[in-house]
Amino acid sequence: MEDEAAIAVREAALRAAAQVHTAEDEEERVDHGAPTLPTDHEVSRETLDLESASPPAPGGEAGQAGPSMTIDTESAARAARVTFKVRSDPGRFQHVLTVANQKGGVGKSTTAVNLGAYLALAGGRVLVIDLDPQGNATTGLGLDHRHLEQSVYDVLTGDIARESRLQRALSEVRPAYDTILIDCPPSLGLLTVNALAAADELLIPIQCEYYALEGLGQLLRNVDLVRANLNPQLSIGGILLTMYDGRTRLAEQVVQEVRKHFSDLVFQTVVPRSVRLSEAPGYGIPIALYDPLSRGGIAYRDLALEFAARTGLLASTTEGVR
Ligand SMILES: Nc1ncnc2c1ncn2[C@@H]1O[C@H](COP(=O)(O)OP(=O)(O)OP(=O)(O)O)[C@@H](O)[C@H]1O
Ligand SMILES: [Mg+2]
Repeated sequence: MEDEAAIAVREAALRAAAQVHTAEDEEERVDHGAPTLPTDHEVSRETLDLESASPPAPGGEAGQAGPSMTIDTESAARAARVTFKVRSDPGRFQHVLTVANQKGGVGKSTTAVNLGAYLALAGGRVLVIDLDPQGNATTGLGLDHRHLEQSVYDVLTGDIARESRLQRALSEVRPAYDTILIDCPPSLGLLTVNALAAADELLIPIQCEYYALEGLGQLLRNVDLVRANLNPQLSIGGILLTMYDGRTRLAEQVVQEVRKHFSDLVFQTVVPRSVRLSEAPGYGIPIALYDPLSRGGIAYRDLALEFAARTGLLASTTEGVR
C-alpha cells in the first residue's frame, strides 16, 4: 500500500513540477506586481512583530523559559483560546503516543512539544519524553540537556531485554499522566524500537513535500514486527501532514494523495509552514506560549482537539469548557 502511495505522491510531484513554471510566474506577480502585499506572506499573517519577538512570558510578565518557569496555565489557555478540556482521570485515560518517522526534519519534535503543550493547556497531565540524542524536544521546552543530571538513557540501561526497557520504565510512571508523548530520532534503530514497544499509538508526521512517503513502508513493517514480538496493542494513531505551503501546488497534491491512500488515518488538521513554529524552540517555549494565534499555533491547537476527540480524551462540554 505504501509503495503505491509513494509512487502516487511522486507522480503528483512530477505533475506539480510540470506546472511549477506557472506557479513561479504567479508568485512573481504577487511579489512585484502588488507592492502593497508584504513579500513574505507567512510572516505577514502571523500576529507578533518580529522585532519585538522576545518570548511572551506566562501571564504576560517577563519570565525565563525553562524548568524554573512557572506557567499560569489558566491565563495561557485563555490567551491561546483553548476552549476545550481533556479528561484528567488518573488510571483511565492514559495514552502513550510515539511520534516517529525515520525521515529527518519532518516535524516530529515540533509535534511532540506543541501537541503536548496544548493538551496540557486543555487540562491534561502530559509527559514529553525526548528519545533523540539531538535533544530538540528538550531544548524546545526550555531545558538545557547539558545540565541534566539524569536523562532517559538512565532508564535504557539495565538487565531486561534492551528493546523493552522504556516500556518497563513507563509502566511505573503511566498512572501519573494522561498523555505521554515520545519524540524519536530520525532512525529506526533501538531507540525508536523502544518507543514503539512502549506506545499505544504511533503518530507519523509527514512533510508535504516530494518523497513524502518514502520509507513509510519500512516504518510500517517495523510496526508489524514490534506488534508481533513486543507490543501487540500498538496501533497507528494517525498521519499528520506538516509544513504545508499553500502557495505550492505540490503541497496540495501531496495532501490529496496521502488522504486518498490513508483516508481516515490522516488527521484533518494540516500544519502549515509557519515561521513562528520554527522560532519558538529558540526561546525554549512551545508555540502555545510564544504565538498561540499564529497559523502554526492554531494548527497545533486544532490538532490537540482532534487528537483528544479521537482518543476519547476530550471532556464533554458540561465537564468544563471555559
Ligand atoms: N510547520 C512548520 N513550519 C515551519 N518550520 C517548521 C514547522 N515544523 C517544524 N519546523 C522546523 O523545521 C525543522 C525540523 O522540524 P523538527 O525538528 O520538528 O523535525 P524532526 O522530524 O523532529 O527532525 P529530526 O528528524 O532531526 O528529529 C525545525 O527547525 C523546526 O523548527
Ligand atoms: Mg526531532
